[in-house]
Amino acid sequence: MAAIAWSREFEIGVPEIDAQHQHLVEIVNRFEEARARGKATRVLGEILKELIGYTQEHFAFEEGYMHKVEYSGLKLHQAKHRQLIAKVERFQFDFDQGRRISIEIHDFLKYWLLNHIQEDDKAITTAGEPAATPA
Ligand SMILES: [Fe+2]
Repeated sequence: MAAIAWSREFEIGVPEIDAQHQHLVEIVNRFEEARARGKATRVLGEILKELIGYTQEHFAFEEGYMHKVEYSGLKLHQAKHRQLIAKVERFQFDFDQGRRISIEIHDFLKYWLLNHIQEDDKAITTAGEPAATPA
């Protein structure tokens, strides 16, 4: 499965958040590459753990940002984050059971890039709220 390339289209205009999004893409691509090269389960498990940890960290940051700029869609956005976290935790569970999760992870990234970032995350900066990092 081909690696997903980062594009400027995915940027929402908040430098920290854009950098974090890019890092998440990099982790998922690294997982896929390791799987394609037949890396050991232990290596894949470590990358997966990194993905889960970083996703949680990133969502916490993004929610903190929405809170600071008093974004009106915070509650709904938080609920979407919880669903995405549940998804990555599910990957961990399936992976631990020895199931193949590569396609699911790829689909997760695609959904997250094309839907969540481009619609939900972009809405944070286009909803009339200040796009710059608040003081
Ligand atoms: Fe988000």
